[in-house]
Amino acid sequence: DVMVLPDPAACGAAVADAVADALTGAAGGPVNLGLATGSSPLPAYAELVRRHRRDGLSFRAARAFLLDEYLGLPRDHPQAYRQVIRRELTDHLDIDPAAVHAPDGTASDPAAAAADYERLLTAAGPIDVQILGIGRNGHVGFNEPGSAPGSTTRVVALTERTRTDNARFFDRLQDVPHRVLTQGMGTIGRAAHLVLVATGPDKAPAVAAAVHGPVTTALPASLLQRHPHCTVVLDPAAAAGL
Ligand code: GLP
Repeated sequence: DVMVLPDPAACGAAVADAVADALTGAAGGPVNLGLATGSSPLPAYAELVRRHRRDGLSFRAARAFLLDEYLGLPRDHPQAYRQVIRRELTDHLDIDPAAVHAPDGTASDPAAAAADYERLLTAAGPIDVQILGIGRNGHVGFNEPGSAPGSTTRVVALTERTRTDNARFFDRLQDVPHRVLTQGMGTIGRAAHLVLVATGPDKAPAVAAAVHGPVTTALPASLLQRHPHCTVVLDPAAAAGL
């Protein structure tokens, strides 16, 4: 399902609609939200905060699970994804702070932390709505090219391209961690509804390959073609290669 909308704000509203539908459609049980970081979902997060404040959209039933986390940043580092998601979204909602989960990027045993997070996700049950961005090399979460379709939460070494792309959030390139924890493609694929958002011309080649190219581990986002309910939300610049 591909939606091309006039601008990033309209894309954010469409992503917010998917989240709001899950929250308001729930029959009283918990609603599992899968959250991505990066700049692409920020208009959606701003819109969700607006709807909470303006319309009383409640997140009390929500549990949030981050896709990924840098390894080795101090817990309170402003670019640790746990901090980013608090600052951009959850601190401004009525969600229980204890219900906001992320892989533990400070763990002394990262492989054990990855296994713990996968277990937590399995116990929580399927994610109802999973928000996703896409890297210029087609990565999803931090599943770099070569990630297996059935992969689970694990330690990944970032490509230099991804480190360079993410350097804008740090003072210097050398501050960008080399390793991360990420949900795997198999983990992500268990979500009931995937909503991938991409805006701007830099994403156009990866979006075109993900939507119309062959399904290949060389471009992890292409694996999402096999998912039964995946919505791709684009602005005209990101859709230019379709
Ligand atoms: C990061 C994140 C991804 C995100 C991607 C794109 O590497 N781990 O989850 O989708 O970058 O980021 P942006 O939306 O800032 O372009």
